[in-house]
Amino acid sequence: MIPDEQITTKNEPILEVKNVKTYFFLEKATIRALNGVDLSLPRQSTLGLVGESGCGKSILAMSIMRLIQSPPGKIVDGQILLRQKHTQNVVDITKLDPHGLEMRNIRGGEIAIVFQEPMTSLNPLYTVGDQIAEAVMLHQKVGRKAALDRALEMLTKVQISDPKQRLHEYPHQLSGGMRQRVMIAMALSCNPAILIADEPTTALDVTVQAQILDLMNQLQSDFGSSIILITHNLGVVSQMASQVAVMYLGKIVEFAETRELFHHPLHPYTIGLLNSVPVLGRKGKKELIPIKGMVPTPSEDIRGCAFAPRCPNAMEICGEVTPVFHEVQPGHKVACWLFPED
Ligand SMILES: Nc1ncnc2c1ncn2[C@@H]1O[C@H](COP(=O)(O)OP(=O)(O)O)[C@@H](O)[C@H]1O
Ligand SMILES: [Mg+2]
Repeated sequence: MIPDEQITTKNEPILEVKNVKTYFFLEKATIRALNGVDLSLPRQSTLGLVGESGCGKSILAMSIMRLIQSPPGKIVDGQILLRQKHTQNVVDITKLDPHGLEMRNIRGGEIAIVFQEPMTSLNPLYTVGDQIAEAVMLHQKVGRKAALDRALEMLTKVQISDPKQRLHEYPHQLSGGMRQRVMIAMALSCNPAILIADEPTTALDVTVQAQILDLMNQLQSDFGSSIILITHNLGVVSQMASQVAVMYLGKIVEFAETRELFHHPLHPYTIGLLNSVPVLGRKGKKELIPIKGMVPTPSEDIRGCAFAPRCPNAMEICGEVTPVFHEVQPGHKVACWLFPED
């Protein structure tokens, strides 16, 4: 029999973001990059986070990692609750010192991140092997030899060609796809429970993109980690994610299982996104209709629904009262006045 304790923790989300607000206090304006984000990441799943450029996806990732530069940035409200992997204790990341030991252990050890452009996150002066080994030594109490062994093991896992040789190479000697594999190897080298991948394949050509996504899928099941996959590519989400969160102007406006979201989208913004791009596997040729207007800079406190000015279904109430993000069906949440709370 499984003890009760294990049953309860198994279904608990590993990460819960509650009403998080991250602002940038600039001289001329306050940018409300995150304006009350609510998101919950189940264990061992891939969550797709989508939305147009400027919606706050990267700032959410950086807030979770406590990598927001302060000043001018600051998490001004909310909680980011992480269930820690060894102790199962819940810690509120927003309360930690971003430079302190606890946060440094979480960063890399519990939550790791892979960015779009690996060249900016790899150090050009160190070999690939040294960089991965460095990360391993920082988080696991092992010596250099063991760390280099781990680096080789990870390079093999990410299916880089000739991994032994790569250990001794510098980032500029590798192709874009290989560099991204190195970043993934480094990110997973300390067995993080959560991997955040921020547009990990956007800079790569289509074939390499497919290979990297394939690899991430495989590693997700091997390592049993949870992935937050940030992308503006809905095709990628439909292939990779088990759940999807749709973000608009600093808020999550819809959340559902992937199939449900693609087949029964509720929020006009989600529908707009789906209509504006060709989605793999969708039957028939559909006319592509872009969403009118652009994502505004979130420098004003918005009344009502932030999407209302661009929304084809906007009603009077939308410009006045902010819709509450709530569950309309089990597992399907939306913030829209077309689906008011009971
Ligand atoms: N360092 C910063 N200072 C001021 N505003 C910022 C900063 N970084 C991001 N922003 C603003 O925060 C909003 C969200 O940005 P971002 O998270 O990068 O969007 P996404 O990743 O969804 O494209 C945008 O309006 C952007 O201009
Ligand atoms: Mg981004």
